[in-house]
This record gives sequence, structure tokens and C-alpha cells, in this order.
Amino acid sequence: MLREALDWMTTPADRLTRKSGQLSEFIAISSRRRRNRANWAFHEARTRETILSSAERADPDGTALVLGAGHLHDIPLLELSAKFGHVALVDLAFSWPTRRLATALKNVSCVRHDVTEAIQILATGGTRIPRPRALVDDDRITFVTSVNLLSQLPVQPGRLLEQQGLNADIVETVHRGLVENHLAWLARFRCPQLLICDRFYEVLDANSQVIEVIDPLHGVILPEPMARWTWDIAPFGEIHRNYAVLNRVVAIDDMARSR
Ligand SMILES: C[S@@+](CC[C@H](N)C(=O)[O-])C[C@H]1O[C@@H](n2cnc3c(N)ncnc32)[C@H](O)[C@@H]1O
Repeated sequence: MLREALDWMTTPADRLTRKSGQLSEFIAISSRRRRNRANWAFHEARTRETILSSAERADPDGTALVLGAGHLHDIPLLELSAKFGHVALVDLAFSWPTRRLATALKNVSCVRHDVTEAIQILATGGTRIPRPRALVDDDRITFVTSVNLLSQLPVQPGRLLEQQGLNADIVETVHRGLVENHLAWLARFRCPQLLICDRFYEVLDANSQVIEVIDPLHGVILPEPMARWTWDIAPFGEIHRNYAVLNRVVAIDDMARSR
């Protein structure tokens, strides 16, 4: 708890990221990862390999745009920095280790940006979310990847709306819109794209039987994946001693072609 409180105070983030609960969530991810490092290793390795093999399709003279880079646990930053002219990491916040590494690598920048372009609107009582437009016309970008980010987009905004007392149908429409808009935004980039995201969460009982399947994408249909794997995200004891959660992850390249 003390470590988390210190991280919350010292991690650079704007007021909205702090107030909306996004910074707490950002720090909580790192704590969960510290507790489950061995169980998460396979997923992180698959994510890194998939990013590198997908990046082979891209022009290395340009910029690789990495969305949801966060703590870099699942990002092969050294290899991307060696391969591309420039790497732009995008997230709501960056830890100090990420910032230090970015500075040392010289061709890496940390861009604090809300990829939904909606949090400000939702935090001030609005419910009409815009279609994200940032960067799609930037011809220097030759590769874009959204990394384990999509399912997170509706989480804190949804909580904000619930706190404002909005009805469940409106909240669900916003959830779905945030997911759809992110997919549409990725598809608009005129370069190779790669989406890696949670597809389903499976809740297991003490006998390791699946007792519930949760769709974190709120019913949005994805194109056919080119790879799938399982992330042992919450082994027994992480959330409850009698229940565990498995995360079914998919990788989809070239959103524009597949949608
Ligand atoms: C599950 S983490 C991905 C793992 C991350 N690469 C890591 O190593 O910790 C999801 C990331 O998405 C970021 N994120 C969530 N909502 C965002 C938004 N609206 N705009 C930009 N980043 C966002 C979080 O801050 C977090 O770092």
C-alpha cells in the first residue's frame, strides 16, 4: 500500500488522470504484475514476440507508435528502438523506469495522451463520445500497435458515469462506443497495424471449471485473429482463494483490411 501511495504521488500525470481513477488503475496493474510475475511471463513474452514479428511488415525508417505502453512489461522497447527511426510510446501516464529508459535510448518519446479523446467529456457530464482523430494523418508513422489496452478503455470511464448516476443503458452505450471507436481509429492509420487485446475472461471455480465467461469488449465483434493465447491473469488467491480468472488474448494485424 505504501509503495502504491508513493507511486501515486510521484508518477507524473495530469489532474484528470488522477481524479478519474486512471492513475490508480495504472499503478495497480504494476502491483498485480509484481505479485504474478511468473504467471504473466508467458503472455508478456507472446506479446513481445508478436509485436516484433508484426513490425517486420513496417518501414523501419519511420516511427513506431505503441499505444498502452505503460510500464513496458509487454513491450520489446530495446528491439523497436534499434529497428525504427523513432518510437513513440503513448499512455495516460509513464512510470519513472519507462521515462529513464526512453531518455537513455534517445529515439524514444513518451506521449501522455488519452487515446479515447473522451475522458474529459465524460468527466464533465457529457456522454457523446468523439471519434479519436489524433495522429492518423501523420505520415511519419509506419507502424502502430495497440497493446493490451482495448479492454481497459471502458473501465474507468464507465465507473465515472456510474458515479454520476447515469442509467445502465447509457453507460453500456458509452462502453461499446469506446471499444468501437478505438478499432475504427486504428483502421484509419495508413501503415501496418497490430491489435493485441483481451477477448474473453473465463472465471474458474475451485475445480478449475469455467463458471462464467465475461466479454470485456461489450459485444463488439472483432476481425479474425492471426494468433491467440491465454494470459493466466488472476491465479487462485489473487482475487479469491476459490476462484481464478484466465484471459483469452487475441492478436489481429491489419485492422483496415480485416474490418
Ligand atoms: C493492461 S495495461 C497494458 C500493459 C502495459 N503495456 C504495461 O506494461 O503495464 C493498459 C494500459 O493502458 C493505459 N490506458 C488505459 N486507458 C487509456 C487511455 N484512455 N489512453 C491511453 N492509455 C490508456 C493504462 O494506463 C495502462 O498502462
